[in-house]
Amino acid sequence: MSFLAEYLKHPFTIGAVAPSSKYLAKKMLRNVTFNQARVIIEYGLGTGVFTEEIIKRKKPETVFLIIENNPVFYKKLKEKYESECNVKIELGSAEDVEKYMEKWKIKRADYVISGLPFASLPKSVSKAILTATGKILDANGYFITFQYTLFKKKIFENYFKIKDISLEWVNLPPAFVLTMKNN
Ligand SMILES: C[S@@+](CC[C@H](N)C(=O)[O-])C[C@H]1O[C@@H](n2cnc3c(N)ncnc32)[C@H](O)[C@@H]1O
Repeated sequence: MSFLAEYLKHPFTIGAVAPSSKYLAKKMLRNVTFNQARVIIEYGLGTGVFTEEIIKRKKPETVFLIIENNPVFYKKLKEKYESECNVKIELGSAEDVEKYMEKWKIKRADYVISGLPFASLPKSVSKAILTATGKILDANGYFITFQYTLFKKKIFENYFKIKDISLEWVNLPPAFVLTMKNN
């Protein structure tokens, strides 16, 4: 499975020429309290850099729902992770997160970890995903995403309160991690 090959086929939905680094994965997850999390949701797993770290650190009873819309990434990662405890992997769009939560009887998310390329997704798709995320996030929950620039910061501010922005240099390209709460 080549990340670059998928990027060349779907540049706007993949949105990056290489997977994120382990350093970015660590930074994305540094505010996650794994021993208290009941539900973690990941959007856009790609080759699974964040997924791997979440599965390593989550408690067995924590439900981990993953939504990926690229069939190549989905198939590969489903084979790898479907036997893990309480891990549910869906092929589809993060726009439909509520539908998947209903399917698995999940009420609220403590953490939504997003690898989605909001800068290159159609505006209507970004808006639908952010609206749905606001609805499913617990009052004390966090929405965590990364961006290569802060040009689109405003779109997040329309839906969430940004609690923290932190730059990870060891990534190609360097990326900002945005940690947000519901407004
Ligand atoms: C920049 S890659 C990030 C992959 C991985 N999280 C990482 O950081 O290396 C974006 C991922 O989001 C997926 N994606 C794009 N639009 C999506 C959508 N609407 N719903 C779910 N996944 C989506 C792409 O297929 C791709 O796997």
